[in-house]
Amino acid sequence: MQHFLTTESLSKDQLTNILDTAESFTNVDGGTVKKIPLLRGKTIVNLFFEASTRTRTTFELAAKRLSADVLNINISSSATVKGESLLDTLRNLEAMHVDMFIIRHQDSGAAEFLSRHISPHISVINAGDGRHAHPTQAMLDMYTIRKMKGSFDNLKVAIVGDLLHSRVARSQIHALKTLGAKEIRIIAPRTLLPARIESLGVKVFHKMEAGLKDVDVIVMLRLQKERMQGALLPSEHEYFNLFGLTQERVALADNDVIVMHPGPINRGVEISSEVADGPQSVILQQVSYSIAVRMAIMSMLAGHQP
Ligand code: CP
Repeated sequence: MQHFLTTESLSKDQLTNILDTAESFTNVDGGTVKKIPLLRGKTIVNLFFEASTRTRTTFELAAKRLSADVLNINISSSATVKGESLLDTLRNLEAMHVDMFIIRHQDSGAAEFLSRHISPHISVINAGDGRHAHPTQAMLDMYTIRKMKGSFDNLKVAIVGDLLHSRVARSQIHALKTLGAKEIRIIAPRTLLPARIESLGVKVFHKMEAGLKDVDVIVMLRLQKERMQGALLPSEHEYFNLFGLTQERVALADNDVIVMHPGPINRGVEISSEVADGPQSVILQQVSYSIAVRMAIMSMLAGHQP
């Protein structure tokens, strides 16, 4: 792999290799190893054109744990605001002998576009492009599921909410299918479903009560109000009543169900605080595990296996 742009085209062996490599970067307590010299001398640029808390900071931490030098480009105070094109920004950063770009962009396909125009020795990691893909988020979610459940065999996973705008859900569905999850359910109102979602091999439900029955994993998605054009929902209150995850609804799932969310969460919109902070929630573990998973992807792109 030179670039990491999507989970769609990757094999089961490739995905499993990422999870195993991430495991090797954790210590016996499950935390991330402190610092190793695997990427010493390499320069990694975080190029985020969209807001981020978790992805940007954990990529920075992961790069530092691998002993790389990290540049964080603040787009709002960069020459982009003076009209410099994405490609020209890239060319100038390339001239500083960068080895890897981590890019988040509001447009689907931006990371792939950059990967096609970049020097052959530079890697690009997609940190979320439009509605298209967020592959490192999907991999840290797969890591969390494997950690909590042991394997993907026999797993029933429900992905709930705003599928229409979710790059995370698309990347998760591809990864879950490849890793062999038994059943992937989608629970959403009709207005928040992409066309032909069934072609991805998922079962669609429009009622929480039916869709959550006996599932092992619940993935809640944020209602992406900033990407909505027009009225797709009557109100947030109504949405919570119909599709919000409450403790009563969690009780419909398997007794050992885990509740996940990529963040940021909207409390009282897609998930209640009681569930988000409750014993079945692994939302903060997802963030902790993301450092090892991002270390794994960066080191593998740089040609290293631990
Ligand atoms: N999950 C996720 O991508 O969060 P951020 O937008 O904070 O990076």
